Amino acid sequence: MKTIEEQGYTFQEWLLPEQIAKDVAQVADKISADYAGKEPLFVVVLNGAFVFAADLIRALKGVRCEVTFIRVSSYFGMSTTGQLQFIVPLQQVVENRDVVILEDIVDTGLTIHQLKAHMRGLGASSVRVATMLFKPGKLEYEDAKPDYVGHELTDEFVIGYGLDFDGFVRNLPSVYKVKK
Ligand code: IMP
Repeated sequence: MKTIEEQGYTFQEWLLPEQIAKDVAQVADKISADYAGKEPLFVVVLNGAFVFAADLIRALKGVRCEVTFIRVSSYFGMSTTGQLQFIVPLQQVVENRDVVILEDIVDTGLTIHQLKAHMRGLGASSVRVATMLFKPGKLEYEDAKPDYVGHELTDEFVIGYGLDFDGFVRNLPSVYKVKK
């Protein structure tokens, strides 16, 4: 397993592209089964989820869908600020749509908690969440428990496959965990 240095921290390779592809495929299969005959609207949470979303939507089988984007921010460095900012608001009408929010990682669940409330307030018929990574031990909002999860982890900080460290390293094809 490779290690890399980023801003004075050492990160160890954890999920390799082959494993990520398997994780994405099992999420895609479940969504394909659950949304057969429906026309879901995928809401990709920028910036981090763009890599997962690009892989996931192409792995779906027979799902006619639309894809749109929202950009929020709650993180600086390695910890959450607790305040969600809508940097790029939703461009698409979600009223009467089956919405699937696509996230890179669910940590405290604050982002998803607020986004779900936002989508419901806009009249979505249903709102579910698919995330590449989930830290169940850190969840503080029960309604933010994701419906579809690629891979679980404990409370480590991770980077790569869309996940950044102060804006950098999103382009790493593997997921890396910080070494304590
Ligand atoms: P939450 O609102 O606490 O669930 O945090 C969700 C957001 O925090 C994610 O969309 C990420 O942008 C960021 N985040 C949480 N954990 C990590 C991590 O381990 N690495 C990089 N970003 C993270």
